Amino acid sequence: MWAELAPIGRHPGTGGYRRYAWTGADADCRTWFQEQAEARGLTYETDRNGNQWAWLGDPLGSDAVVTGSHLDSVPDGGAFDGPLGVVSSFAALDELRHRGARFTRPLAIANFGDEEGARFGLACVGSRLAAGQLTREAAHRLRDGEGVSLPQAMENAGYDPDAIGPDPERLARIGAFVELHVEQGRALDLTGHPVGLASAIWPHGRWRYDFAGEGNHAGTTRLADRRDPMLPYAETVLAARREAELAGAVATFGKVAVEPNGVNAIPSLVRGWLDSRAADQSALDTVVAAVEAAAREAADRQGVDLTVVRESFTPVVEFGHALRDELAKLLGGELPVLGTGAGHDAGILSASVPTAMLFVRNPTGVSHSPAEHAGEDDCQAGVRALADVLEGLACR
Ligand code: GLV
Ligand code: MN
Ligand code: MN
Ligand code: MN
Repeated sequence: MWAELAPIGRHPGTGGYRRYAWTGADADCRTWFQEQAEARGLTYETDRNGNQWAWLGDPLGSDAVVTGSHLDSVPDGGAFDGPLGVVSSFAALDELRHRGARFTRPLAIANFGDEEGARFGLACVGSRLAAGQLTREAAHRLRDGEGVSLPQAMENAGYDPDAIGPDPERLARIGAFVELHVEQGRALDLTGHPVGLASAIWPHGRWRYDFAGEGNHAGTTRLADRRDPMLPYAETVLAARREAELAGAVATFGKVAVEPNGVNAIPSLVRGWLDSRAADQSALDTVVAAVEAAAREAADRQGVDLTVVRESFTPVVEFGHALRDELAKLLGGELPVLGTGAGHDAGILSASVPTAMLFVRNPTGVSHSPAEHAGEDDCQAGVRALADVLEGLACR
């Protein structure tokens, strides 16, 4: 399975993946998913929001058990973030068939669209739409860096953008959703276990900072005459690091756009995106407010205008104890239970459906990078754990 997926969207230079929503690479991943479903005799469908489903049993049956993850990536993402959950789902189903499992509940494998938000700026678009946490109107306003709208991109990919919206009937038919995901830190590695369970997802959000100054000549404009937006931007990056350290949070400016982006021009605009997360909402609020205050102070000092827009926010998710305890029982023994600062479709869906997550050890903790890795044996342990869970839930 991995062999056919591995070359799709891989950047020849970095070896990282660029599988952005509704692009050619995404379409190839979707074709791969459909082929995996059909090769197993599963009923394949896409929902109104472009999420893909592969059903064993009646797609309209109730109390379904659903597993899966996403196939899209961040810029230069690793091979595992998302795909490990989808590949493991198909492998777990193969394992269950090998065991001769008899299913008493419908089972589905899902690929949720645009989980990373790498193209349109908002993460988990497919699951947010389904869960009614993103309206069609708001989704239709999303634009990529080239100005292509989400509806246009969906239409170009052969999907109907007017169909998107809440899908409560579909979610009501799901009795449990379990997402397996590579861990994106080193917590599991530190425990020595290959597989763990998720307790919570930290509250997190994205804020766009637009510093607007005055474009001018880099050689002839006296320093005193400049309104250079790069200066308050640079101070803001440092403030984000400082405030995150003080509050026990994390804060990152990982994307920046500069206009006109010329070596010999003072920028007219610097647009940076703050991603900040914390275990605790009040720590996150403190960081976000302090970074904005520092940015405003620095912008004023340089005669630069600042606009801050919150582009997305996801409150804390505490996965329900009932399903997690059931998984722990099915998996026997003492399994580590961890919180994470990474967002997931499981976090979005947990507001509508009983949801749990399995993490597979990541020995370096590196993720959102081509260097992301999980060992072969650990991936196998993940498949076995997922098979045990699905057997316990769907075959009782
Ligand atoms: C998505 O993986 C995120 O947490 O940013
Ligand atoms: Mn990710
Ligand atoms: Mn992911
Ligand atoms: Mn994610």
